[in-house]
Amino acid sequence: MAEYTLDTRVAVARAKMLKSAVPQATIFYAMKANGHPAIVSALATVCDGVDVASAGELEIALAHGFSRVVCSGPAKSLTFLRAAAAAGATVNVESIQELHALGSLGVAVTVCLRVNRRIALPAGISHRMSYQFGIDETRLPEAFAVAASYPLIDVAGFHLHAMSGNLDVNAHNVFIKESLEWAASFGLRQVNLGGGFGVDYTGPLQFDPFGLDVPTLPGVEVLFEPGRWLVADAGHYSAEVADIKQNHDNWYVVIRGGMHQFRTPVAYGQSFPFLVAPREEWPHPWPRPEVRDSRVTIAGELCTPNDILARDAQVSLVRAGDVIVFPKAGAYGWDISPHQYLRHPSPTFVILS
Ligand SMILES: Cc1ncc(COP(=O)(O)O)c(C=O)c1O
Repeated sequence: MAEYTLDTRVAVARAKMLKSAVPQATIFYAMKANGHPAIVSALATVCDGVDVASAGELEIALAHGFSRVVCSGPAKSLTFLRAAAAAGATVNVESIQELHALGSLGVAVTVCLRVNRRIALPAGISHRMSYQFGIDETRLPEAFAVAASYPLIDVAGFHLHAMSGNLDVNAHNVFIKESLEWAASFGLRQVNLGGGFGVDYTGPLQFDPFGLDVPTLPGVEVLFEPGRWLVADAGHYSAEVADIKQNHDNWYVVIRGGMHQFRTPVAYGQSFPFLVAPREEWPHPWPRPEVRDSRVTIAGELCTPNDILARDAQVSLVRAGDVIVFPKAGAYGWDISPHQYLRHPSPTFVILS
């Protein structure tokens, strides 16, 4: 038995907090963090729009209350581009070829050029989002020329998402200031600064949106499109303890769940904090496995030694049949997990609203 609990009220509260912290900015939700329809429709009531990265996400966003949409992703299909244009979405163009592909559709479409800038990013971020993404800033003259050769392409501005997992609001302000100054020199009307507000999975740090400093530029709309920070705390993942054993002096608590459902700890190479929810029933006639006052590893049910969600964690008592609960599982949890591996049943989803 494994379960995700998603509390849409937490996501809504986060979005409201961000909007009140930066009322001068437009707030989109990057639904790649959690595309569950309950989360998407809850955030549609507060956010100004949504960032989608596939035709599938676009369909969910439109069906669950969003009307303003931006489309991201480095290998957009013609199907996606057509659907984006038909929905009146802004396409964040990732390459010069993508401009040709969009232009060849022969339909009116608004774009932002996703620019891969040669700037320093904050030291402590969990993911640098440059590498293969966007158009190298030295190729911008060519990109503008190609866009201008298609009269139905309207270049609104730039998309500058460059990082994920930044906990330092002051470092974010440096990025914001530098990005806006650079973009302003082009005289366009939109600058999308992306997401990237971080979540401290293993400690007490908080990204403080009230510390954000977003200058107002006349005639320029400034957008943010966070995912993680809006929804990480809106979910927890829990799984029943299936077995407990001591191998080579190490205690293993094996859960009926794992990284095929909650890949986040493995993806980030971190040992995630957890709680033990005791359950008194033990329906079997054989002795109940348990471990007391020891350090344990929490392993999943997959046939790979990579399926480890927590390491070397102190517990006072864990028994088979108890439930291990991982908080901060609302972002990049189920959505980034390899569900098909071993074909185990899916977790249930409990929605609080
Ligand atoms: C284009 C784009 N926008 C927004 C986000 C959201 O980033 P985060 O969840 O760090 O806020 C991502 C995530 O990688 C992204 O690729």
